[in-house]
Amino acid sequence: MRSDRDKWNCRYQQSDLVMPTPPPALIDNLHQLQPGNVLDVASGEGAVALYVAANPSFKVTALDISDVGLKNLKKIANDLQLDLKTLCLDLDNSTRMAQLSDYDCITLFRYKPTVKQVKQLISALAVNGRFILSTFNLQQHRVNGFSERFCLEDEEFLNVDTRVELLSLSRSSQSPYTDTYIFQRVSADQ
Ligand SMILES: C[S@@+](CC[C@H](N)C(=O)[O-])C[C@H]1O[C@@H](n2cnc3c(N)ncnc32)[C@H](O)[C@@H]1O
Repeated sequence: MRSDRDKWNCRYQQSDLVMPTPPPALIDNLHQLQPGNVLDVASGEGAVALYVAANPSFKVTALDISDVGLKNLKKIANDLQLDLKTLCLDLDNSTRMAQLSDYDCITLFRYKPTVKQVKQLISALAVNGRFILSTFNLQQHRVNGFSERFCLEDEEFLNVDTRVELLSLSRSSQSPYTDTYIFQRVSADQ
């Protein structure tokens, strides 16, 4: 079976190298981000990272398993004269993930993480830092036929980790159907 990296590299090889459209839930929630260092996880070609990096309050690092996606992102960023860093990393590489720390914000859009991945990302968040996790829910499967295994269950991450407080959970009322969790880290250790 093809690895996630190969699958996404293949997809990004066909890129037209233009700025991807940011997800509606990012536009709605940009004001929830704290100024400072932002880690955009599963960034792909930068639909989130580039949009955030256009605001001078944020220093953005884009993390993805796909080196091709990140190369495309860098090219688009250079064309737009946006400054950001990239980090090619597998979210399942716990050793390397554990080296990430002190981000003021973490964004994760249109990728369904495991509980283990969410917990590692919370560890990478500074105390008082915010984590926006937004991806497709089961309505996207029912209405648009999007693969069920990539969809969030209802309230799936409501009580994911005691180190964070849930500031809000919102559900889009129209397509694309997404759930958006906004967490704030409240304590250093579990
Ligand atoms: C649907 S794209 C979302 C891209 C971007 N966040 C957006 O909203 O447009 C999912 C991304 O997850 C990345 N990805 C998949 N598995 C991953 C893993 N194990 N570690 C890091 N990134 C991964 C893929 O390379 C791909 O860029």
